[in-house]
Amino acid sequence: MKGKFITFEGSEGCGKSTQSRMLYDFLKRRGRKSIYLREPGGNKISEKIRDILLDRKNKSMVAVAEMLLYMAARAQVVSQVIRPALKEGKVVICDRFLDSTLAYQGYGLGMDISLIKQLGKFSTSGLNPDLTIFLDLPLKKGLRHRRILKDRIEQRSLSYHRRVLEGYHKLARQEPGRIKIVKVENDKKDTQEKIRALICRLKI
Ligand code: TMP
Repeated sequence: MKGKFITFEGSEGCGKSTQSRMLYDFLKRRGRKSIYLREPGGNKISEKIRDILLDRKNKSMVAVAEMLLYMAARAQVVSQVIRPALKEGKVVICDRFLDSTLAYQGYGLGMDISLIKQLGKFSTSGLNPDLTIFLDLPLKKGLRHRRILKDRIEQRSLSYHRRVLEGYHKLARQEPGRIKIVKVENDKKDTQEKIRALICRLKI
């Protein structure tokens, strides 16, 4: 028995967490065994790494350390949580995954994309999502939803976040079979309907 692995991606404030939770609740209501987690996070060790990554006090963190810490958090959650759940035939819904590192550290910070892909393969032992929902929202609309006290990544410049969003579009063009672009609608329910239509194809 093999489960399905669905990831949600997008720039800040795109509504990813709300939409991924709505999908999780929907699957649970339908009696489908599912788990929900976020990245970085999803278990004790990865949540601790998340705290280090997002702490505004860690101003001196270098790009290589940042990228490797995202990978370390991912390696832990893949091995401890995601792979076992997939083995049990569950649907795993993950708020962010490797595409985030490609978009934020690769396209955003200018780190080598092929190196990140290689390290991603190593950290996840080659695990790829069955489907990735990229929630596409104009940058200015998304950044409006940012909290007043922004974390270390959120507080980066508008041009950084623009590179991240453009990076996601590049990734979607490279893998149109896996990454589906969903335009964020004003009504949350309308966006969710579009997502559910895509999920149907996975036959879960
Ligand atoms: P979240 O706010 O969506 O929970 O994500 C945490 C922050 O970490 C968000 O600003 C995006 C960033 N991030 C990266 O920069 N690289 C990554 O690989 C991941 C998973 C998240």
